[in-house]
Amino acid sequence: MQIINSSETSKPHKPVLIKEVLEALSPQDEGIYIDATFGAGGYTKEILTNAGCKVHGIDRDSSVAKFADDLSKQFEGRFKFINGEFGSLENIILDNNLDRIDGIVFDIGVSSMQLDQGERGFSFAKNAPLDMRMDQNSGGITAYDIVNSTSEQDLADIIFKFGGERKSRKIAYLINKARSIKPIETTCELAEIIARGNGRYGHSIHPATKAFQALRIVVNDELTQLENALIAAAKYIALGGKILVITFHSLEDKIVKEYFNELCGKRINTNRHLPQIEFYNEPNFEFVFKGALTPSNEEVSGNPRARSAKLRAIRRIK
Ligand SMILES: C[S@@+](CC[C@H](N)C(=O)[O-])C[C@H]1O[C@@H](n2cnc3c(N)ncnc32)[C@H](O)[C@@H]1O
Repeated sequence: MQIINSSETSKPHKPVLIKEVLEALSPQDEGIYIDATFGAGGYTKEILTNAGCKVHGIDRDSSVAKFADDLSKQFEGRFKFINGEFGSLENIILDNNLDRIDGIVFDIGVSSMQLDQGERGFSFAKNAPLDMRMDQNSGGITAYDIVNSTSEQDLADIIFKFGGERKSRKIAYLINKARSIKPIETTCELAEIIARGNGRYGHSIHPATKAFQALRIVVNDELTQLENALIAAAKYIALGGKILVITFHSLEDKIVKEYFNELCGKRINTNRHLPQIEFYNEPNFEFVFKGALTPSNEEVSGNPRARSAKLRAIRRIK
């Protein structure tokens, strides 16, 4: 097996919807902001450049510290990096004595650096051990553990629920068959099995894309992290402060949309057997803009990864 170590050659992440994020956040001098998904620091840098404010940048991936070091030098005394999970946002806020927060931004998912770092196992484009942990120091489960130890039925459910993959049962069957001979160890071995289950041809995306995404979401417990973070963000954001979330996956967007609707007092009755009535209570938040913003065609053509991005934003009003 040839494992590629590309961490030194991976390109920095291109910030998605940056103009829209800045407009919605509208950072102010003296403001205190949290960039909950620091990555290569694209948002942090723009926020610090646009106002005389402070930013706390959180990332669970310690390998981004090099970008944080650069920004600490460039914006001395105005930026602090915190290596941690936004699922523990409440503890991070309390441990760092953040008694006023004027804005929190989440840019959910993996960065292009993580995808490009072949040895991390996020991508089937590079042969690597099945890892997929964003935080490799966490000691948590890896994609290898899930692929080789989860029951066939649970694997099928994971691939269907988190990847939306219609051929989930066939893929889980083939994974089970392959691992009964020997453990599945690498991204390319797994991608090959998935492609067999899925039919190799006639796809606009690689046949392993959805199943890989499903595994990544489970390895990193991404949906629970998001739910916990949104609850903490709504609890601690200051009056007038804003919460912005960019998602790339419909399950994540659903969580954000429904929670923001609830916070803004708008609860749509989703029971199709009942009349569609909107219920309003007295909200503590309002929408910064209606619905979700998506990238322009121009942005998508320069950065195809942006194509499924959705930005939602709310502001505390009492
Ligand atoms: C899409 S990138 C963010 C890119 C960033 N906005 C930029 O412009 O460079 C997402 C980052 O969030 C981090 N991340 C994802 N889930 C996280 C979590 N639950 N807690 C902390 N960081 C997380 C990832 O490690 C990754 O570096």
